[in-house]
Amino acid sequence: MKQEDAAFYGIYAAKLEEIHDLMLREIQAILDGISNDSETAPAEHLKCRIKGAESLKEKLRRKGLAETPENGLRYLSDLVGARVVTHFVGDIYTVLDDITKSEKWQVKKVKDYIADPKPNGYRSLHVIITLPFGADDIETIDAEIQMRTIAMDCWAALEHQLKYKKNIRSTALIVEELKRCADEMASTDLSMQTIRDLIQRG
Ligand code: GTP
Ligand code: MG
Repeated sequence: MKQEDAAFYGIYAAKLEEIHDLMLREIQAILDGISNDSETAPAEHLKCRIKGAESLKEKLRRKGLAETPENGLRYLSDLVGARVVTHFVGDIYTVLDDITKSEKWQVKKVKDYIADPKPNGYRSLHVIITLPFGADDIETIDAEIQMRTIAMDCWAALEHQLKYKKNIRSTALIVEELKRCADEMASTDLSMQTIRDLIQRG
């Protein structure tokens, strides 16, 4: 983690690094297990990050909470976040199954924005997990695992740019076009899954 982030997290920095490494290792082991079973890798990539201090403070401010690391640990669920990007939609639910079975954490909540996309077209599956944290004052911590296909990931990256870019002239048109792309990509993701199932059935 960056020096300014470590300074902000203080006594919790090392524990956050531990959680980060544990999640990365456990999710990688889950992905490797699936690859061995099916001889095809479910994931295109896996990433994990600890939220930067500035981004954390901004979120706490937005939620009307004092900008302390303790509030982040207690009230936010994405201080540590992992993202699994898969080739096919079905892979997401295969990985979810193993995430649920893991003994390293407890699944607290599953937000399925694939079955129920956001109005802007956002699709992903978010899993909130609870892990032992083991600090005197904070026993557990929530973390987030986001799962999406390559198509959904590409879309989310583009849509994210729109949110942070000021002074865009044709916002309404872009929003509408993004929604159309999201729906088309979802339809293609489903067709790809169907073709894959047909090939695997032989
Ligand atoms: P925050 O959105 O993080 O304040 O928490 P929340 O409780 O609203 O959870 P939600 O599941 O809506 O979103 C959590 C994370 O998912 C975000 O921090 C983003 O990384 C991602 N996400 C959610 N909605 C969108 C979206 O519309 N577009 C993009 N690009 N990412 C999104
Ligand atoms: Mg949100």
